Amino acid sequence: MTDDVLTADQIQQIRERVDALMPEVRADLEALVRIPSVSAASFDQAEVARSAEAVAELLRAEGLEVEVVSEGGRPAVIGHIDGPEGAPTVTLYAHHDVQPPGDEGDWDSAPFEPIERDGRLYGRGAADDKAGVLAHIAALRAHRGSLPVGVTVFVEGEEESGSPSLPAILERHGDRLAADAIVIADSGNWAIGTPALTTTLRGGIRVVVRVETLDHSVHSGMFGGPAPDAVTALIKLLATLHDDEGNVAVQGLEVGEAADLDYDEARFRAESGLLDGVELIGTGSILTRLWNKPSITTIGMDVTSVAKASNTLAARAAAKVSMRLAPTQDPLAAFELLQQHLLDHAPWGAKVTVELEEHGSGFAADANGPLYDQARASFRDAWGVEPVDMGVGGSIPFISDFAARFPQAAIIVTGVEDPDTRAHGANESLHLEEFARVCAAEAIFLARLGATRS
Ligand code: BES
Ligand code: MN
Repeated sequence: MTDDVLTADQIQQIRERVDALMPEVRADLEALVRIPSVSAASFDQAEVARSAEAVAELLRAEGLEVEVVSEGGRPAVIGHIDGPEGAPTVTLYAHHDVQPPGDEGDWDSAPFEPIERDGRLYGRGAADDKAGVLAHIAALRAHRGSLPVGVTVFVEGEEESGSPSLPAILERHGDRLAADAIVIADSGNWAIGTPALTTTLRGGIRVVVRVETLDHSVHSGMFGGPAPDAVTALIKLLATLHDDEGNVAVQGLEVGEAADLDYDEARFRAESGLLDGVELIGTGSILTRLWNKPSITTIGMDVTSVAKASNTLAARAAAKVSMRLAPTQDPLAAFELLQQHLLDHAPWGAKVTVELEEHGSGFAADANGPLYDQARASFRDAWGVEPVDMGVGGSIPFISDFAARFPQAAIIVTGVEDPDTRAHGANESLHLEEFARVCAAEAIFLARLGATRS
């Protein structure tokens, strides 16, 4: 490309600088992973404070002016460093909190002791999203002493808990986050070796469904037959949420269509770990089902455990249901539809209540314009192959808040995850070579942004 804003030599130099930095970047990542910064309320929040402080220290070392802020929630870190006069500005987002480790017996090594196996670094948060934090640090280090743009870094401490205090943080400190481009390093790439810009994310809601059929639990021999138990009624109700083909049966929800990327059933089976013989559910292309259609999952139930079971008709039972939504679906409208469906399908006149626990919007970027072009060019520079635009089935609800607050900013969603990352699951890991390319792409993006100033 002759009219490119950077020369091939400049790009190569940045790549080499990043490669040389990777050992120290990795060591800093490992130190962060050793801090069990689980933002869920039942975990020790002193650890979240400790990880905020560790992130703040990393940013201070790069010359940023740093403040740890909390507005009634978990501590977030905001750092800023000016660029050259008149240069564009960029805000770099990641989160330093992590999901709970789950059952430690499911892990092949301790979740908070990072360890490398086969080119991957294992540990809770090694990818989601402490690698996002370090990608930003790596990009800053690659330009140490001559940053081409003004940079604000925003590292949140409660993304995995639904960002409850983010509106308050935006209210109090939002002006500091304004920028020409906002890089959100909390998604992933299409495959190892193929970079991607994430252009859509799904929204979601979580509800608790409660079913009551009796005033109190009773002997199943004495009353079973005519009287329905609440567990069976709940299961019958949950079973109405999908049709026979496995599509979401709640009427009136938005349905979109995914771009026509090549993704076949064999790849989906391999990546998801679906057992042989288990069918895929729903209709439409697999990517449409993953990215652009609603999905419903029962993620928890309050019923008598098998171990404690006795011959009893349960009076009440409850389930937590998570519904993912098409990127542009209004989550509160979706809640009304789900609630109405559940009330309308109450089996045998059972008492049903539906409580909305959490809701978050999806996102669909209009990923056009010079800044998106530079982002795609940076991916091409770092990987040596053309990037793809992709959707993801997961959610980063605050992106829609950012988009509303900073309508002029290009929102560029990147990340380190790949299909084998197992974020949120046991044996979460980071592909180290891919991570180096993510870091290089971000460093190149800053240079490209700096070079595009008019
Ligand atoms: N990094 C994920 C979002 C994501 C998921 C991106 C899958 C790409 C693919 C993020 O940390 C996350 O887990 N979000 C939650 C949101 C919830 C806590 C409100 C999710 O999707 O469940
Ligand atoms: Mn994340």
